[in-house]
Amino acid sequence: DLGPYRHFMQKEIFEQPRAVADTLHDIDSIDPELFGLLARKRFSEIDGILILACGTSYYSGLTAKYWIEAIAKIKVEVEIASEYRYRQSVPSSNTLVITMSQSGETADTLAALKHAKNLGMTKTLAICNVPTSAMVRECELAYITRAGIEIGVASTKAFTTQLTALYLLTLVLAKLKGNLSELQEIEELKLLKHLPVAMQEILELEPKITKWADKFATKEHALFLGRGMHYPIALEGALKLKEISYIHAEAYPAGELKHGPLALVTEEIPVIVVAPTDQLLEKLKSNMAEVKARGGELFVFSDDASKIEPSSGMHVIKLPGVYGNLSPILHTLPLQLLAYHVAIVRGTDIDKPRNLAKSVTVE
Ligand code: M6R
Repeated sequence: DLGPYRHFMQKEIFEQPRAVADTLHDIDSIDPELFGLLARKRFSEIDGILILACGTSYYSGLTAKYWIEAIAKIKVEVEIASEYRYRQSVPSSNTLVITMSQSGETADTLAALKHAKNLGMTKTLAICNVPTSAMVRECELAYITRAGIEIGVASTKAFTTQLTALYLLTLVLAKLKGNLSELQEIEELKLLKHLPVAMQEILELEPKITKWADKFATKEHALFLGRGMHYPIALEGALKLKEISYIHAEAYPAGELKHGPLALVTEEIPVIVVAPTDQLLEKLKSNMAEVKARGGELFVFSDDASKIEPSSGMHVIKLPGVYGNLSPILHTLPLQLLAYHVAIVRGTDIDKPRNLAKSVTVE
């Protein structure tokens, strides 16, 4: 039942505050047991993490690398499952293998998990949206995201609930390693509980984003930029746009611009920038100036604190807050809405984009 929405994708975008609240299910302390009875023991045995996933789930893993290394101080590798399963890697039995998956049935991710286990890496955790899935059965630990059934082929609420679970994991690991004080724990819990409210406020930006969609609909290429933990969010924004609007989109960490992609910039290529106020903002501003100087048209998602103002060739939508470490979750929403509304203007089959399946159960 679509209710007031035109597509499942739109419905699922708007379900995210609820999905994230359910995924957090009223936790009042940061405990390893959230990840299973054995989690405390396993987490204290590990000295590294390997995340295996495909597509959007891979991007949630990439975001987690920034969080876990910075906050919990544990080394993280993230690999595309279809590559990992076929390459010769160096296994380590003290590594926690995490598989990220909405469906829990993605063939490449399941095969990568089996491959890791065959290499002797038996400490495994599934972060998954389907409790009865093969992936949950194959892993000794599990965290079930509570996105609810996701019908749109383009993953939306599965991604933000995965990020929520991964942030919780970051806090659990930080606490176990003595990197999270009691005061910090209370503060983090408060911020997490506020997340659904902040998401709701951002979804209210939809009418502004719809106006941008008209400008994109005639384009055939787009560039997405982000820095630090917002680089994976730029990747996710580009994937959403390609998947449902069939516009060719690429994402780069903005510092890479001058190493190649700047050559692409003309007034014909919209450049979407994820630009929250953080310690990389000043660097990002100079990357944006490089784009502007070459006639590129910028579409910037930022916030009031950034002091980025609209000018000729620069459109700005400001999110209502500065969200710190949770900013990647919140900055995902406008990118989903942008892809959705561009696809509406282009008249594509949004919930079932051509050539794609919801769950990729074959190689
Ligand atoms: O079910 P999974 O999370 O394992 O699926 C992985 C990818 O196939 C999936 O995220 C895909 O990239 C989405 N269609 C992206 O929107």
